[in-house]
Amino acid sequence: MIRVTNLYKRFGDIHAVNGISFEVKKGETYGLLGPNGAGKTTTMRMLSALSPLTSGSITVGGIDVTKHGREVRKILGVVTQHDGHDSGLTVLQNLSLHGYLEGLSLKQAKVRAVEVLTFFGLEDRAGANVYELSGGMKRRLAISRALLTQPPVVVLDEPTTGLDPQSRNRVWEQLAVMKRAGVTVLMSTHYMEEAATLCDRLAIMDHGRILDEGAPDALVDQHAGEEVAQVRTESETALAALRERLADTPYRLHEVGAMATVTSENGKRPDLTGLTGVRVTYRQGNLEDVFLALTGRELRDE
Ligand SMILES: Nc1ncnc2c1ncn2[C@@H]1O[C@H](COP(=O)(O)OP(=O)(O)OP(=O)(O)O)[C@@H](O)[C@H]1O
Ligand SMILES: [Mg+2]
Repeated sequence: MIRVTNLYKRFGDIHAVNGISFEVKKGETYGLLGPNGAGKTTTMRMLSALSPLTSGSITVGGIDVTKHGREVRKILGVVTQHDGHDSGLTVLQNLSLHGYLEGLSLKQAKVRAVEVLTFFGLEDRAGANVYELSGGMKRRLAISRALLTQPPVVVLDEPTTGLDPQSRNRVWEQLAVMKRAGVTVLMSTHYMEEAATLCDRLAIMDHGRILDEGAPDALVDQHAGEEVAQVRTESETALAALRERLADTPYRLHEVGAMATVTSENGKRPDLTGLTGVRVTYRQGNLEDVFLALTGRELRDE
């Protein structure tokens, strides 16, 4: 449904997207997971025919984005990173107007507007002015708007950034319902939990490149393992001892400030018995570990 081949985007000296390729199958939810500046928004803007490609190609539903941007926009629902709502309008007016501009009749637009508002739990806010909505409600409105014309493909740029856990769960639920309805989704996020929960497959992006791609579990198995040791060292000496202890083992040490994680080659629990001056806890490997293993940096706090 989506095919991106050798895609590049340059802004002057900045290589925002530096040669990426990926495919999204029909009905699949595909994620771009990466920190600030990884190139997620730039990729999605090119895919949505909102920004020209420096080189490479993109097709959506077999349609070339460069040659037939308008046709692509017809089958694509786009939720941009920053909501742009016309705030002189009520929620219902905003949606109806959007539907009308997208080619629905006024009557159809209104019917669909009510349907999507109900789907997103916003029906009791239909008469509110857009600026009266909370951040989470605005986000849900933005997603509602992208779904008005029932597009087979939806592109969501950070659908839940800035939302509280409750609103985030609500958006997740609705994305799951969309998925069940067969909608193909390309989304970006820097929340590893969101990526793990929603995505069938994802690409780990950093500095305009895809470092690896796969199902969340497969990526965790490959780069982090089933169990990861989280180590807090109480002194520089203890840390040095840990480094030395691991030097001739197949264990890998990732240092992140005062914290360190240790992963083993086979993904099983690393044996760290006998170390002094450290506190060791064990937890399941996650996409954060994958990112750390691939880049040496943390996904968070970038
Ligand atoms: N219009 C522009 N002009 C110049 N540079 C740009 C422009 N848009 C993006 N960039 C640069 O391209 C790189 C990728 O930015 P992009 O917005 O795609 O990242 P992102 O992965 O979406 O990050 P975030 O998680 O912060 O949204 C950054 O270095 C950014 O500064
Ligand atoms: Mg972005």
